[in-house]
Parts: sequence; C-alpha cells; structure tokens
Amino acid sequence: MYMQTIVVTGATSGIGKALTKHLVHEGHTVFAFGRAEDKLNHLKDDIGKAKGRLRLMNADFRSLSAVEKALKQLEKALPEGLDVLVNNAAAVPGKKAFTDDGFETQYQVNHLSHVHMTKRLLPLLAKRRGKVITTGSDAHKRARFDYRDIHALKRYHPFRSYCRTKLYNNMMSNYFSRHEDNVTFFVVHPGRVKTDIGTKDTNKFYAFVWRIFTRKGFTPEDTVPTYVMLIDAQTPEQGYYYREALHEESAVAKNTDYQDMLMRHALRELDTLFL
Ligand SMILES: NC(=O)c1ccc[n+]([C@@H]2O[C@H](COP(=O)([O-])OP(=O)(O)OC[C@H]3O[C@@H](n4cnc5c(N)ncnc54)[C@H](OP(=O)(O)O)[C@@H]3O)[C@@H](O)[C@H]2O)c1
Repeated sequence: MYMQTIVVTGATSGIGKALTKHLVHEGHTVFAFGRAEDKLNHLKDDIGKAKGRLRLMNADFRSLSAVEKALKQLEKALPEGLDVLVNNAAAVPGKKAFTDDGFETQYQVNHLSHVHMTKRLLPLLAKRRGKVITTGSDAHKRARFDYRDIHALKRYHPFRSYCRTKLYNNMMSNYFSRHEDNVTFFVVHPGRVKTDIGTKDTNKFYAFVWRIFTRKGFTPEDTVPTYVMLIDAQTPEQGYYYREALHEESAVAKNTDYQDMLMRHALRELDTLFL
C-alpha cells in the first residue's frame, strides 16, 4: 500500500482525532493541526507507537497569521508535495465574537481558514494529484445564501451561522473543483456524531441541547471509513459523501454564481491580509 502524506485539521478531538489515529496506525504520515499545545501532546501520547509518523502543527484558526506561519513550515517540510488535505476544524461558539483579524469567529474558523489552507496548499497537492476532503454537514441544507450578509452577522444565532458556514464548505469545494484540474475535491457529511463540538465555548442550554441531539449518534470512529475510502481510492468521483456513498447536496451549494460570489469575496479578504 502506498503510504501517503496527509494534513488533518481539528485533529485533537472528535472526528479529526479518530481519523488521525487510524491513519498513523495504518502507516501514513499525518501533519495534525490543533489549537492547543497540551491537546496536541495528548494526541501524541494517545497514539503512542505506530507504523506511521505524526507531526504536530500548532495553529489557532482564529488567527490567519498563525495559519500562515504553519503553512510556511509545511511548505518547507513537504518539497515533494502533499497527498491529502482534510479540512475538518470547526467551532460553534454560543455568542457572536470576532477574531483578531476582524471576522466573525465561525466565518473565519469554519470557512475562511479552510479557503486559505486549500488555496495555499494547492501547488503542493497538485504535485501529487492530491485530494482535498472537507468535513461538511447536512446542516448546510438549512442555510440560504445571502450575498448582503455573507458573514451572517444580522441576528446572530450560533446554529444559523454554523449552517451557513457548512454551506460554504460545499460551495468552496465545488468552486475549487471547477477551477483545479490536478486536485480532486470532496465533502464528507459524517452524520450525527457524539462529539463535544456543541458544548465548547457556549452556554449550558446549548450544550444540553447538543448532548440530547447527539446522544444516539455515531461514534467518531464510525465516521472514519468514508474518509479512508476517499483517501485510498484511485479515482473516486468528486462530490458530497455520506457513509461511503455519494449523497445529495442542496441546490444552493451547487449554484455556480453563488460559489463565484462567495469565493471572490473570501479570496479578496485573504488578499487584503496577505498581499
Ligand atoms: N459532531 C457532529 O454531529 C457533526 C455533524 C456534521 C458535521 N460535523 C463536522 O465535523 C467536524 C469535526 O467536528 P467534531 O464533531 O469532531 O467536533 P470536535 O471534536 O469539537 O472537533 C472540532 C475540531 O476543530 C478544532 N477547532 C475548534 N476551534 C478551532 C480553532 N479556533 N483553531 C483550530 N482548531 C479549532 C477543535 O479543537 P479542540 O480539540 O481544541 O477543541 C477540534 O479538534 C466539523 O467540521 C463539524 O462541523 C460534525
């Protein structure tokens, strides 16, 4: 089996952690992104001895300069290219808050930082005819696209903003797949999964609702086979996947005019910061 070099974001808990553990034990090299040194060290201890290699990457996605710093380290470490990028990190903070870069937190952590990671890693991925797998959600089907409120700032509600950013995951993936010939793009809906995402940086009520909502959900480990199938397959069909099969995404996510509007906006925002 060809051992691949894979970047996983949000690798310190839930789905990303289960996936990282599996991939390193299979023998792949994983660059695991986390926002907290202690959680990254815990991941390393948890994995212990394995066939593959684990490289820890510390970057809080609320800071695009921290993401950029980590990307520069990756470029140095991977002159031969990258096989797979898994954009998986996300947050659902209970209150509207802004990052140091001036963006609403979910907009930056769940969407803009993925755009930045993907765009910057495309040359490395193209060298290996690589893949980008973004963890999305069927929650995107509840969102609409409002060009006048791309950051979902009007009447902030954590779930509304979350659904909107999950819609953006599909839109980003569809946009890049129309523009890049040497890289294939996928979005995975993991299903309802028993993780702590809905309990972090939020109030007791939302945390309680999340626990009820996911109490009969999948385990993070249950979601791993879909990612592994996409990583291992020679030429899987681009698109939106659930439980190892293609899955229907919303008409809004497929709308190419909306994709162009969203992505021109995001790429302009990134150019303003980095050019
Ligand atoms: N759970 C579900 O039912 C479900 C359903 C559909 C889609 N999803 C998607 O699945 C993905 C993984 O979520 P999960 O359920 O596994 O939850 P999770 O365990 O909370 O994983 C989210 C990951 O993102 C990281 N993260 C959060 N804020 C960050 C920041 N500012 N900078 C860098 N990393 C940050 C978290 O880091 P920490 O470990 O430090 O918290 C964590 O590793 C997300 O994209 C989510 O939208 C989940």
